[in-house]
Amino acid sequence: MSGGAPRFQQEPHPPPHQRPLADTNVQHLPLLEMLSNKVGKQLGHPTYSLTGWLVSKFFKWHNQILEENAVKLCNIQPNDTVLELGHGPGFGLQAAAQLLTGPEGKLLGVDYSQYMHEMASKRMKEQISRGKAVLYYSDVVAMPIEENTADKVFHCNCYYFWPDLKAGARAIHRVMKPGGIMVTALRLDSVKKVASKNMFSGESWRPEVYMEALQSSGFTDVRMENKREKLITFQAIFATAVK
Ligand SMILES: C[S@@+](CC[C@H](N)C(=O)[O-])C[C@H]1O[C@@H](n2cnc3c(N)ncnc32)[C@H](O)[C@@H]1O
Repeated sequence: MSGGAPRFQQEPHPPPHQRPLADTNVQHLPLLEMLSNKVGKQLGHPTYSLTGWLVSKFFKWHNQILEENAVKLCNIQPNDTVLELGHGPGFGLQAAAQLLTGPEGKLLGVDYSQYMHEMASKRMKEQISRGKAVLYYSDVVAMPIEENTADKVFHCNCYYFWPDLKAGARAIHRVMKPGGIMVTALRLDSVKKVASKNMFSGESWRPEVYMEALQSSGFTDVRMENKREKLITFQAIFATAVK
């Protein structure tokens, strides 16, 4: 998405693998709760709307630095195949593309928001046209990527929205090469604040729940580390795919 004013229209069809969002009886909710519900849904699945556009601006302001750090922590090699899940506007894809300088280097992305898929596709149009990047409009659990494809997988602020973390972790494991590295970056303080406003369903935003799902899905050396970069503190979860 360039800086221009967005045209808001409904996504014409549900994305191919989209699950219906939980229905909320909005009539009985107080205004603030309704608003936080709306923002929570847009964070997890931005659509063509004013809130979706504002949320995309928030991703740049709050998350771009996190995305860039996740990329650094992947230790990307020039000929790697790298996959980002839930890439949103595409700042992490952009950072990863700069490191994939070898002839075999390839970048893949998956997002089930049509709005984010199109925004990132615009941002990455040069790499897509050269065949260096392929973006899929898909749910993580149904991504049309062959098994044993990715050397590195990363995602930021994404797993909290998955209704079944074990299914998500199994899907990641499937597409990774043996010994491949997965990195998840998050700002736990911010995530806790969002969770306290009931914007996530259940407890699956907790890193330990996701780490347990990774462990039971064929990952080893699963660990979370605290990191500091410039003015921000964040957490990185690492896992290695064993096959
Ligand atoms: C909070 S946004 C984060 C975007 C970006 N990674 C960042 O940190 O700014 C979550 C993104 O993950 C995508 N997403 C959430 N659940 C997904 C799923 N099950 N499959 C594919 N994409 C998903 C959403 O559409 C959205 O673009």
